Amino acid sequence: MCSLLENPKIQELDAFIDEIHAKESDLIEVLHKTQNLFGYIAEELVDHIAEKIGVPKAKIFGVVSFYSYFTTEPRGKNVINVCMGTACFVRGADKILREFESQLRIKSGETSIDKLFTIDALRCVGACGLAPVVMVNDKVYGRVEAADVQKIISECEV
Ligand code: FES
Repeated sequence: MCSLLENPKIQELDAFIDEIHAKESDLIEVLHKTQNLFGYIAEELVDHIAEKIGVPKAKIFGVVSFYSYFTTEPRGKNVINVCMGTACFVRGADKILREFESQLRIKSGETSIDKLFTIDALRCVGACGLAPVVMVNDKVYGRVEAADVQKIISECEV
């Protein structure tokens, strides 16, 4: 399998690290850049960042696992996040999540075999007035009902 370190995006990441003269206090910023570029933070990218900015690997893994935004696994082209915060939950977010799971035949936290969809549950995304809320990548859907799930899926890029 081709190494991620041969991906041209690694040069973009290195340029970013050099430009901000990244050090330990910039770790989260560097991880955001990495996730945006590659879609996930693979172990070989952690090795690379550790060496480049002089931070122990264990510390980087600790940060990656603490923040749910970061992931060490490749995700689908369409990441469907169902908000399970209190406001959304009391308005039926669990039914919406189950409907996505049933229609896409994957469980929350999983990615479809064709890598088109990942389903995940999030805590409050800060749009409680629109509860229940679903996000597909950066797009926000508010006041979602289980009956809307099929339409949301059909609007995804495949
Ligand atoms: S609880 Fe879902 S947006 Fe706040």
